[in-house]
Amino acid sequence: MVRKLSASHYQRELRTKERLLSSIHKISSLLTRPISLDQILNSIVKETYQVFGLTRVGIFLTDKDKGLLECKYIIGFSPEETERALTKPYRLADHDCLDTKVARYGKTIYSPDMVNDPRATPLDLKVCQNMRRRGTVIAPLKIKKDTIGLIVADRRDQELRLTKKDIDSFSTFANQASVIIENARLQEQNQRKIRQLLALQEISRKTSSTINLQKLLNLISASAMKITKASSCALLLMDDSKQHLRVASQIGYEEMDDLEGFRLRVGEGIAGWVAQHGVPLLVRYVSQEPRYVEVVKEVESELDVPLISENKVLGVLNVNSRNRAAFSEDDLKLLSIYAGHTASLIKNARLYGQVMTERNFRENILESSPNSVIAMNMKKEITSINRQTEELFRLKRKNVLGKKVADVFDTEIVQVVDLAIDHGTLSDYQEIRKSRKDGSHLILGVISSWLRDHQDNRIGVVFSVRDLSEAKRTEEMIRRMDRLTSIGQLSAGIAHEIRNPLASISLNVQMLSKKLALDDASRNIVADTLEGIDRIKSLVKGMLDFAKPSTPALKRGSIARVLRNSISLLDSQMRKKRVEVKVDLPETLPEIVIDEQQIQQVLVNLLLNGLESMADGGSIRIIGRLGSHNKKRQRHLALQISDTGEGIPAANLSKVFDPFFTTKPEGTGLGLSIVHKILDQHQASIEVASQENRGTTFILRFPLQPAGGR
Ligand SMILES: Nc1ncnc2c1ncn2[C@@H]1O[C@H](COP(=O)(O)OP(=O)(O)O)[C@@H](O)[C@H]1O
Ligand SMILES: [Mg+2]
Repeated sequence: MVRKLSASHYQRELRTKERLLSSIHKISSLLTRPISLDQILNSIVKETYQVFGLTRVGIFLTDKDKGLLECKYIIGFSPEETERALTKPYRLADHDCLDTKVARYGKTIYSPDMVNDPRATPLDLKVCQNMRRRGTVIAPLKIKKDTIGLIVADRRDQELRLTKKDIDSFSTFANQASVIIENARLQEQNQRKIRQLLALQEISRKTSSTINLQKLLNLISASAMKITKASSCALLLMDDSKQHLRVASQIGYEEMDDLEGFRLRVGEGIAGWVAQHGVPLLVRYVSQEPRYVEVVKEVESELDVPLISENKVLGVLNVNSRNRAAFSEDDLKLLSIYAGHTASLIKNARLYGQVMTERNFRENILESSPNSVIAMNMKKEITSINRQTEELFRLKRKNVLGKKVADVFDTEIVQVVDLAIDHGTLSDYQEIRKSRKDGSHLILGVISSWLRDHQDNRIGVVFSVRDLSEAKRTEEMIRRMDRLTSIGQLSAGIAHEIRNPLASISLNVQMLSKKLALDDASRNIVADTLEGIDRIKSLVKGMLDFAKPSTPALKRGSIARVLRNSISLLDSQMRKKRVEVKVDLPETLPEIVIDEQQIQQVLVNLLLNGLESMADGGSIRIIGRLGSHNKKRQRHLALQISDTGEGIPAANLSKVFDPFFTTKPEGTGLGLSIVHKILDQHQASIEVASQENRGTTFILRFPLQPAGGR
């Protein structure tokens, strides 16, 4: 009987061992496949059920970082019980029950009937009630001496009667299972790390391509949140004095009123400590950390890593969580790797920012320069121009940047560029003439220099161009007036000397021709002589007119009236030469202070010259306008007289106002010099622009309120 009993007992035990072994083998084989910890735990729970006939099994794992004992897998429980078990972990530090005892001491506990077990605590009894538990067996899951969790099994509402052997087998099974669990856990951890590293790589790639400092800082905080699953984050940067940290970017600190002004002294708080020591700090429970300073509410745990570039602490990356012990050593490592990567990026972005500020500063100077500045690269492509260039060359920046110099500027500039870039010759300063469409021209002073990179290689040319036309015009006018006065004085003297003898010569020749009986040939000679004398007379008169120290009789007068008179004086000549006159004056023009006699002389001279320049007909167009001279801000009346005649060669343009300069066989060359002199006395100006074979334009400007007499 006894034998029989022990034999069947023995057999049963053997069967149990066999099944145990096969199930351990079954679970172990799962490990060779890429399978998750979840699946392993799941099948362990199932095997326990099958081998030991226990209807309800649960696996709990401890989380050291969080100090929790958490239920990971459970089978045989009702949905409500399952939900309760999975969501309500035990806190190892302050929950006292059989389960936490096993986790703490690593010993199997067997209680056939907990209600009558003196070891049962109030918590145990509560659990028994909630989970409808009566008898239970709990075995630790151990790796070497370390308890990583436990397996708990029972039958709903039933006492649990197990032999010592059953309990031993259960413990052995748990031991084997813990190895498998641990392996699976490591495997999963590795996989998680790989996934995290891949994510980190992705984030780093994004971070590296951001050059704007604030954007970069914001991206770093957002990424730090993502990497560590934190609830708030701050990126603090060291100020220049290295005394304080200030928040440069944050997420979840919104509740703070004045974050802009928030500063943390180096050495103060967790972040301050990390900045001071240059090493990371993981605080699982801020409530137990004397260095902790509350900045935002509801923080339970915190992780801070220093941002170090070239051995200098630039700042601190801080993440916080509302959960206790939310961050692990892994998080610390990961965040440190990330911080190491980003510190140098922050440094670069800062440098870039500084360079940009300097560049903006320089660009501002450039923009407000009175000179036109044009920069180009060695491919003769325009790389930069300033506002003055837009004005002077009448172009738009957006239309010319990147274009070839030759496609934008006239030959005069292109030549200078070619000489520099093709031949390497660059003169420091030169003056160039730039023709305008309207026949006028500009005189430009050009300062040129090479653009060089940091290794002193030539990378382009920069021109600083100044419009000298105005200055040159003034210079020319002064020169002209000087010449006029000296020639005027000289010729006045000569004219006087000539006038008297000439009068008697003229008289004598006339008398002689009457007294002598002349043949036809001799009469012709006398006529020629008299004609020559007449020409000399008119020249002398012109010289005297010019040199006469005449002060104009200035009074209010109408330019329009003077113009009408002048035109009608020349009316018959105009018609004879088939020249048409077009006048374009505003309805009303203010009267201006003039000597009408003299101004008529001016207009007649100009109209005559126009007439003489048109051998076979044409037109003279006269336009009058009120305007203001932009440089001197003076209101004036402008009169523009254009003809369609032969024009004046560029070489002669500067000479036409000189006395005695004429290109006409019969000319005196005094007309324009008298015009100039009269206008000068009216404080009016005259300018000429001309294109050969197309025509000539004179522009006269009369001040509306002439300055006091000179
Ligand atoms: N409207 C014009 N068209 C072409 N050439 C002109 C014109 N006005 C002046 N000139 C040039 O300027 C020169 C000087 O003119 P001016 O002083 O009036 O002397 P003159 O008419 O006696 O030659 C002229 O000979 C001519 O070459
Ligand atoms: Mg003339």
